Amino acid sequence: MTALNLACVVGARPNFMKMAPLLRALEAYPEVRTTLIHTGQHYDAQLSDIFFEELGMRRPDISLEVGSGKHGAQTARILERFEAVLEEGPPGGGRYDRVVVVGDVNSTLAATLAAAKLGIPVAHVEAGLRSFDRSMPEEINRIVTDSLADMLLVSEPAGMDNLLREGHAEERLYLVGNVMIDTLRRLLPKAQSRDTLERVRLKKGRYGVVTLHRPANVDEPETLARLLEVLVEVARDLPLVFPIHPRTEARLQHFGLLDRLKAAPGMVLLPSQGYLDFLCLTSQARVIITDSGGLQEESTALGIPCLTLRPNTERPITVHEGTSTLVSSDPKRLRQCLRAVLDGTYKQGRCPSLWDGQAAERIAEVLARTAAAESRRAA
Ligand code: UD1
Repeated sequence: MTALNLACVVGARPNFMKMAPLLRALEAYPEVRTTLIHTGQHYDAQLSDIFFEELGMRRPDISLEVGSGKHGAQTARILERFEAVLEEGPPGGGRYDRVVVVGDVNSTLAATLAAAKLGIPVAHVEAGLRSFDRSMPEEINRIVTDSLADMLLVSEPAGMDNLLREGHAEERLYLVGNVMIDTLRRLLPKAQSRDTLERVRLKKGRYGVVTLHRPANVDEPETLARLLEVLVEVARDLPLVFPIHPRTEARLQHFGLLDRLKAAPGMVLLPSQGYLDFLCLTSQARVIITDSGGLQEESTALGIPCLTLRPNTERPITVHEGTSTLVSSDPKRLRQCLRAVLDGTYKQGRCPSLWDGQAAERIAEVLARTAAAESRRAA
């Protein structure tokens, strides 16, 4: 049996919970060898190391240590270093048969571009999502990644429609479900058994969780200040726990807004949290207020109302079937929705099909089956 060598790439926080179940599912295929490559886009212990530990993911086989930088510089560093890794081949010898990338971060785009230029096929997990908003760096990453990848693994039906409309051949598309929800389902009991709520003195169902890190919300002082005013107001009625992403913290400091937030009654500020403490918080919250893509999906899977601080979403199923509402950065809309949550009149939502904890198994099966067919053709 010929071995199949996969280069599996992670770089930033939201990648880890998608790659972990996939590596585990691939262990069922003895012919598949995986090399785990971490670009180092995220390098802080709280944004990276803790996830490897808590998700039970093995340490990276190769670390590129690219660090932070402007988009062009960061992408270029990954391109250069990842190209060298691909040319070198897997640590055990041979050549890479395929690169596997997940999500929509700069690491996803750069790894795909390097592979495509070397003629190595790319599988993209979480393909087809489109916000139709090119001011988002992630939208550019999604479009370019999908146009270069030859195996497109899709989490929700809108992704299939988008890819077909863009002219991708149907035989390259696979509706496999949401691999991030595999991790959520596996670790929910462990997360909920933690004492996170006691430590921050919150009671189940009687607080909200806030996260904020998108450039559109945190890079302009006026937008950020306006959002914070509403959150400060909300926190008087419903305590809010706010784990602050390093980029948001830097902006808050820079704009002189951090002290206002610290002084707000009912506001619990925390550093960014590990996977388990964060899931413990979100899964027992009354409401989630966020601009994160992943959290829109996790709240839908958990059945917790999610007020999304964005004018659009690349994950429409979280609005049509799930618990998310797009409130943009409109204070009136946010207040209205919060009232509905507190009155018990907010919509219920349901968990989309194929968000069942088995997506990684489906992806592993597609990867192994396709590779077997390719090697039969090559023979
Ligand atoms: C990246 C992703 C975004 C994802 C988010 C999750 C892109 C374009 N964006 O955004 O889609 O939702 O990760 O967190 O890829 N920093 C640290 N420590 C780190 C890494 C970053 O302090 O370990 C700080 C640095 O000041 C850095 C800033 O955060 O400049 C932004 O980091 P970057 O990876 O460029 O983007 P994120 O905002 O984290």
